[in-house]
Amino acid sequence: MLDLRRQYAPLHQELLDAVGHVLETQQFILGEPVAAFESAAAGKLGVAHALGCSSGTDALWLALAAAGIGPGMTVLTTPFSFFASISAILRSGATAVLADIDPATFNLDPAAVEMVIHGPQGASLGAILPVHLYGQCADWTAFARLGQEHGLKLIEDAAQAWGAEWQGKKAGGLGDAAAFSFYPTKNLSAAGDAGMVSTNSGEVAERVKILRQHGMRRRYYHDEIGWNARLDGMQGAILNVKLKYIAGWNEARRLVARRYHALFHAAGLAEAGLYPAHGIILPHEVPGSHHVWHQYVIRTRRRDALRDFLTMRGIGSEIYYPVPLHLQEALMGLGYKEGSFPEAERAAHEVLALPIFPELGEDEQEIVVAAIAEFLS
Ligand SMILES: Cc1ncc(COP(=O)(O)O)c(C=O)c1O
Repeated sequence: MLDLRRQYAPLHQELLDAVGHVLETQQFILGEPVAAFESAAAGKLGVAHALGCSSGTDALWLALAAAGIGPGMTVLTTPFSFFASISAILRSGATAVLADIDPATFNLDPAAVEMVIHGPQGASLGAILPVHLYGQCADWTAFARLGQEHGLKLIEDAAQAWGAEWQGKKAGGLGDAAAFSFYPTKNLSAAGDAGMVSTNSGEVAERVKILRQHGMRRRYYHDEIGWNARLDGMQGAILNVKLKYIAGWNEARRLVARRYHALFHAAGLAEAGLYPAHGIILPHEVPGSHHVWHQYVIRTRRRDALRDFLTMRGIGSEIYYPVPLHLQEALMGLGYKEGSFPEAERAAHEVLALPIFPELGEDEQEIVVAAIAEFLS
């Protein structure tokens, strides 16, 4: 699925020098290496503020809490995401509600969101938290309009979407605040857990700084209850090196995606429409969006059997995500059931992520496509 050694090999010395500098200056937590990364990251995203923190999960919680989301409020998100998208809402003290996804992009469907807004749960709604799933922005034209019309905060889960754009504007600067993850498998990755909040609001940025350090403005004077959610100096230094290369890596991912498209079409496997019949549905890049292909996800009816077949051939694949959030054991209390979100449930049965990373070779992609062709024949 992912061979990070190929990324590491050419950066080996540069990364060791950066880590060595942290060891020598002993700036282990926040400090100069993190500040340098934050300012470079804000510049790359075109946002006013970037604040490093301990993980993408903590970044989501910090973004929500700093934007004023808490008990008595409701936040709407997608049922088709990683668990943190919803657990961060619940941890902020807010109530979570869900709306179904668009089957073409797997992202939150604005029309479904609008129905919730006009329903009984609409009155307490304080924010929408769309996820830019697989590296493609959610429909921000629609969400910006809904946010404005209904006075809702917009928090982006940009964990999978460093460098993605909507109508020329980068993920991370679209909403009131955004959360990034630098988990080692992400497009921009640390050597451990790390995350970041981005925002154009000075007020939100100031609160994130306080909340990530136990609510301290002055050392040992606690204005509110925050958490320990700081970024390590080592991770800041490593991220600052990789930041120089991420645009090129994302372009390489786009090339890999184009090659998959061409190979699947040439093999006659790609079907038109939203749902698969006998072949596969290729992932869709919405016009005006700039997809960074964190994942290349196909749909097929015989997903589990195909995955077993690929595994037997030594080809990696993954299911993001096999169980939608509303059917997770831990979230039964939300009151949803099987059938509540048919698109998310169908996607959970049909999606399969294929190997994608910047250094993946065309010859390797040919092997993947040939194996899928053999299975489907
Ligand atoms: C969509 C999404 N949101 C949130 C997270 C949480 O990030 P982390 O694992 O860094 O806590 C992830 C990554 O795992 C993710 O994919």
